[in-house]
Amino acid sequence: MNKPLRIALTKGRLEKDTVKLMESLGYDCTELHEKGRRLILYVPDANLEVVLAKAADVITYVEHGVCDMGVVGKDTLMEMNGKLFEMVDLGFGRCRFALATKKDYPFYDGFGVKTIASKYPNVTRNFFEGKNMDVDIVKIEGSVELAPLLELADGIVDIVETGTTLKENGLEVVEDIAQISARLIVNTVSLKMRQQEIESFVQKVEEKING
Ligand code: PRP
Repeated sequence: MNKPLRIALTKGRLEKDTVKLMESLGYDCTELHEKGRRLILYVPDANLEVVLAKAADVITYVEHGVCDMGVVGKDTLMEMNGKLFEMVDLGFGRCRFALATKKDYPFYDGFGVKTIASKYPNVTRNFFEGKNMDVDIVKIEGSVELAPLLELADGIVDIVETGTTLKENGLEVVEDIAQISARLIVNTVSLKMRQQEIESFVQKVEEKING
């Protein structure tokens, strides 16, 4: 048998959805269900080695070619802008990037430079550059909703899924920035070197997703 193809999965919810997808393709994912604290698992029917990593690291491993493929959110892809192929929109992990402020906050009023808090400084910069608007960006690591409440920032650029976190903290969306979902990514060299195996996997996934 060939060397397994290696795929990096974003740990957590996207991992669960990806395992469901692989099972719907008929692959036995027992190792993934019984993984304990192991980080590299094997899916025998697909001859796939599955690596579990944080979103940004999925991109790093795929970009460096130590993983042939990866499953990661469009949010992290937009932030990191790596050199890789984005092959399939997997349709799960749906949410959006939005600009949000405290409820009824007159964000676009006045001429002062606004401060924006975000876990995604590059997405934030690109969004405001597109508006020719100068902003100060403060990088926050999590629970970004705190920044306007503590008056560190005028607004936030963050992921909104159900909108509950914003609502329960007295914030609201001012503007949508981009739709997000999970993507299947592929290393550029792997796609050349192992074209047939990768294309056959990608095709199976696409057929399943597009019904
Ligand atoms: C994300 C995001 C929001 C929340 C949005 O945070 O940053 O806080 O989910 O979801 P909702 O619209 O359904 O309420 P996450 O749970 O990933 O934690 P973090 O803020 O610590 O990154």
